Amino acid sequence: MVEFEVESDAPTASLPTVVDAAALRQAVAELRRGGQRIGFVPTMGALHAGHLSLVELARQHADRVVVSIFVNPTQFGPDEDLDRYPRTPEADAALLAGAGCDLLFLPAPEVLYPNPEVADRAAVEPGSAARGLEGARRPGHFRGVATVVCQLFHLVTPEVAVFGRKDAQQLAVIEQLVRDLHLPVEIVAGETVREADGLALSSRNRYLAPSERQAATVLSRALVAARRAIRDGETSAARVRRLLERTIAAEPRVRLDYAEVVDADSFSPVDEIHDRVVLPLAAFLGETRLIDNFALDPQALRAEASGALSPTEKEIPCSA
Ligand code: PAF
Repeated sequence: MVEFEVESDAPTASLPTVVDAAALRQAVAELRRGGQRIGFVPTMGALHAGHLSLVELARQHADRVVVSIFVNPTQFGPDEDLDRYPRTPEADAALLAGAGCDLLFLPAPEVLYPNPEVADRAAVEPGSAARGLEGARRPGHFRGVATVVCQLFHLVTPEVAVFGRKDAQQLAVIEQLVRDLHLPVEIVAGETVREADGLALSSRNRYLAPSERQAATVLSRALVAARRAIRDGETSAARVRRLLERTIAAEPRVRLDYAEVVDADSFSPVDEIHDRVVLPLAAFLGETRLIDNFALDPQALRAEASGALSPTEKEIPCSA
């Protein structure tokens, strides 16, 4: 095991870091000694406060926390940003050391992909949750995600794994994978962390020019407007979709890719909004593609609007 030397205010800060499978297994066995539960947060690095909140959540559900950083080539399409995806391992390690991470797994590509011929490799086929939206627009993306997540689960062998609600469809795909393949891991979902003006934190926000950064707030504003409409009794998914589209169209620097209303579990589009739904959207700001969503429980929202919930129940978050 190497100690990743990190720049930090604390002069002794260092983070135990492993880069290959054998060292990982040994380090995890040591962490697990005495019956400790392992929590796992898989990431692609370029960490921000959203990732750190997932580490914090993992700490609440487990005794030891392992984080992986791996920019997974198989989930990027040929015209996507694999080459320019931000890679900041030193800064990431410093953040993780201060966030209570016990072990960093930082595999070289050949550890996970010893055979670079993608066509020859075994892969994991995701289920129906991967079909629409991101899955339709980014062919092979969720296959790449499902495959690397399965590899990481087998290597890290966590009791609990934490994924962010920001990537709501990815979360649905992983939950289905774990359910359908009986993977022995509990999936915990972490809420989306937002800037004060509503922009969801994302590693890709750093691509935005200042004017694009400002324009990007229209995404969360559109979601807030849609949530208000649903709270006030709107049940037509088509009308909510149009509201999202209209709000985003008012910002000329943003080109909407999609705005949908889908069932929270299956991720299939719904016509009527009665049960838990997700409102996922994707949009381009220049070359940068951002995604965001709200997960909503319409019944709880409407009960809140009619004052039927107690103050404590009102505090239960119903949006990602
Ligand atoms: O959400 C991410 O950062 C990635 O999709 C994941 C889950 C680490 C798989 O590469």
